[in-house]
Amino acid sequence: MNYGTLYGVGVGPGAPDLLTLRAVETLQRVDVIALPRSSDYGSSTAWRIIEPVVGKRSNQERLFLTFPMSKEPARLRQAWDAAFAKIGERLKSGRSVAFATEGDPSLYSTFGYLLGEAPRRWPGIRVEVVPGVSSIAAVPAVLGAPLADGLERIAIIPANYGVTDLVTILNTFDTTILMKIGSEMPKVIEALERTGLLHKAAYVAKATMPEQKVTTDLRAVRGERGDCFAMIVVARRERSGVLAGEVSPNAALAQR
Ligand SMILES: C[S@@+](CC[C@H](N)C(=O)[O-])C[C@H]1O[C@@H](n2cnc3c(N)ncnc32)[C@H](O)[C@@H]1O
Repeated sequence: MNYGTLYGVGVGPGAPDLLTLRAVETLQRVDVIALPRSSDYGSSTAWRIIEPVVGKRSNQERLFLTFPMSKEPARLRQAWDAAFAKIGERLKSGRSVAFATEGDPSLYSTFGYLLGEAPRRWPGIRVEVVPGVSSIAAVPAVLGAPLADGLERIAIIPANYGVTDLVTILNTFDTTILMKIGSEMPKVIEALERTGLLHKAAYVAKATMPEQKVTTDLRAVRGERGDCFAMIVVARRERSGVLAGEVSPNAALAQR
């Protein structure tokens, strides 16, 4: 069967001018833009990001797909079955579909599942991934601080899947990035207090969006029920600056 091409397009962290040229070109060219949203009545963050640049086009369909914010497999499966049916119908008719995803498609993105399933559901289909500016790149830019330098190591943690080992992680890695904070904020702050790293943490919500919020006073946001676009970066900065100190990597590790 001659399927249309399926694209996974990263639309960046929020600011429309952080869309890549390739993303804009792809989104303007395809027959269908698939847009994830968390409820049937809610707006799509991806659409909010691309609308000022891509706009509504008369010959192009906007296909809103609802994926509830849930960890329940049954609810998610139902949402995915509906999404596969709608996307599949369009691909089978030869139309190209761009699945627009916030940030980059390779990082905790709804597109990841589609990418894995596509060849099984639609054998021989052409799939292209258009990388986007991830929140992992946008947040350090907002903070004006590098994530890692020289021999430093980074851990990325999806906090809402559990933070029981966070103290060990904080003590092991130079930089820890906490994503998907959800309701885990109090436990995250507790781990930062226990490790004495609270003063090395920064909280950034909705980086590069008009509602962007940045604070290094995490106790002040303790009560916030983890904004769904919020990240905490904990940077120890004990081993950075390889040019400043003549530290061999192994010696530096042994200091831990
Ligand atoms: C489902 S993941 C998607 C990540 C996305 N694919 C990326 O590359 O950034 C959602 C998490 O990414 C982080 N995130 C995404 N956009 C963000 C932003 N603009 N500001 C701060 N954190 C953001 C938050 O931790 C949020 O809980």
